[in-house]
Amino acid sequence: MAEPHIELRNVYRTVTRQAGTSVRSEILRGVNLNVLKGELITIMGPSGAGKSTLLRLINRLTEADSGTILLDSANIKDYDPRELRRRVGMVFQIPVVFKGSVRDNLAFGTKLWNTDADIEALAAEAAIPGELMDADAAHLSVGEKQRVCIARALANKPEALLLDEPTSALDKASAEKVESLLLRLQSERHLTMLWVTHDQAQARRISRHNYVLEDGKLREEHG
Ligand SMILES: Nc1ncnc2c1ncn2[C@@H]1O[C@H](COP(=O)(O)OP(=O)(O)O)[C@@H](O)[C@H]1O
Ligand SMILES: [Mg+2]
Repeated sequence: MAEPHIELRNVYRTVTRQAGTSVRSEILRGVNLNVLKGELITIMGPSGAGKSTLLRLINRLTEADSGTILLDSANIKDYDPRELRRRVGMVFQIPVVFKGSVRDNLAFGTKLWNTDADIEALAAEAAIPGELMDADAAHLSVGEKQRVCIARALANKPEALLLDEPTSALDKASAEKVESLLLRLQSERHLTMLWVTHDQAQARRISRHNYVLEDGKLREEHG
């Protein structure tokens, strides 16, 4: 049996909703998950189920109330948070770019090794055409911005990516491009991926390991 790359054991998380009076609500109630190295799993579930919260726990943008999360069999709390986030990158639904050109955005991610050749290679890997490199990143389409965000995540040479509905803000053509880019990266770099989506057809297309988060628990869907 292969060792899990990312493992969640009995993870709980309560949030306080502010609605006139504040209501405490346990959104994750004993979540268990095993993801092998290089495996791509999908997570679906109703809006507000806690899918984004679950991803954010894994690179410590949020803390669990109880339970354990392991990366390579070590508790994520034993890693330096910057090291953890370098190894486990995150891509969000709405891509946010920094001020400046596309090249500036990629150079920001590659601070430690930013030769021009490195930046060009990174752009090629994220399917960013050369003629876009000196464009103002703020003026890109949403799909192009998402590719810049993926390139920035790749600059850290991650082992895993947490993908929070990475294609759902995009038009159909851009969504297809980003989906095939991510699938190519997963197979070429052997990246572990946890991919949240509300699109069941997409989930089935990209993975045979499909989970649903509902009522605070994660269950695997079969068939
Ligand atoms: N830091 C927080 N403080 C208060 N409420 C939160 C916080 N994070 C998430 N929530 C609430 O927890 C619930 C789950 O949110 P989320 O993880 O974003 O769900 P999903 O991604 O499945 O739509 C939502 O009701 C949201 O408003
Ligand atoms: Mg969400």
